[in-house]
Amino acid sequence: MLLARPRRNRKSSAIRHLVEENVLRAADLVMPFFVIEGENKQEEIKSLPGVFRLSLDLILKEAEKLHRQGIPSIALFPVIDSKYKDEQGTAALHEDGLIVRVLQTLKQEIPSLCLITDIALDPFTSHGYDGVIDQRGYVMNDATVEILCQMACLFGTAGADIVAPSDMMDGRIGAIRRQLDIEGQQEVGILSYTAKYASTLYSPFREAVGSTLKFGDKKTYQMNPANTREAIRQAVLDAEQGADILMVKPALYYLDIIAKIKEKVHLPLCAYHVSGEYAMVMAAHANGWLDGPEVLHEALLSIKRAGADFIFSYAVPKILPFLELKPF
Ligand code: PBG
Repeated sequence: MLLARPRRNRKSSAIRHLVEENVLRAADLVMPFFVIEGENKQEEIKSLPGVFRLSLDLILKEAEKLHRQGIPSIALFPVIDSKYKDEQGTAALHEDGLIVRVLQTLKQEIPSLCLITDIALDPFTSHGYDGVIDQRGYVMNDATVEILCQMACLFGTAGADIVAPSDMMDGRIGAIRRQLDIEGQQEVGILSYTAKYASTLYSPFREAVGSTLKFGDKKTYQMNPANTREAIRQAVLDAEQGADILMVKPALYYLDIIAKIKEKVHLPLCAYHVSGEYAMVMAAHANGWLDGPEVLHEALLSIKRAGADFIFSYAVPKILPFLELKPF
């Protein structure tokens, strides 16, 4: 006789559903969008098959469709023409800039959709860094934070529900919170890219946004992939400074970090399944080596299991069919 036969709980689809410990729902997903100027414009991104740079009208259509399918939120990333980029990233503060217009329209057309906007200077700077640099090319912390505060208020006024600083400057969460409150924007939330690692997995994103670095790397502000305790320290600091939600990024190589932050800090936690994580699977899919959508579904479920409350992913449209209720 064998008392414990774990397979009994796996013998039918019905039992497997009863004992299922984690569920991935459409409501756990955020779809990132790359926004371009113009109308009816759709540009392919070579390293992100199936993902496109889209003009506002097409994003509106796509976002409406996803929202109807249960997706609660989208994240917006602007693609800025190089003629508007400069060393200071001044285009980030244009009162009539691309993201401002997109936020205004989306908020008006789809009021129930939660709009998340990235707060960082990399789409706007000629060098591709997330802040302003000194003569040595070093990203200056406090000067950058001042600009980020203005950016957050501008986007909050335009309709952002949540601003998401992805820059990794010190003290930016507290500074942004104070500035938002001073300007009467207490309702605008802050999602902090808390543990953002200096990962090589961001390169398809940089191709998409046109922010590939002209020199150097981002290791003086993004975190060393070798470190765990530093991520927890960063998470504690961001919580103290008034963050509403924390993020770990990338996701799959950092599941341990997700699990640990979840345990130590009692704020909602999300993860960014980044461009490189998506691109690798799609490349294998194109070669016929793996079933892309199935792998992506397993990936996102794993990120949820590790402790993420929700996930940013380019795979959202590909895995939605897996999330529909199916007969046993
Ligand atoms: C920039 C930013 C990056 C990503 C999101 N915001 C790239 C970077 O830090 O260089 C990467 C997302 C992805 O790879 O999908 N502030």
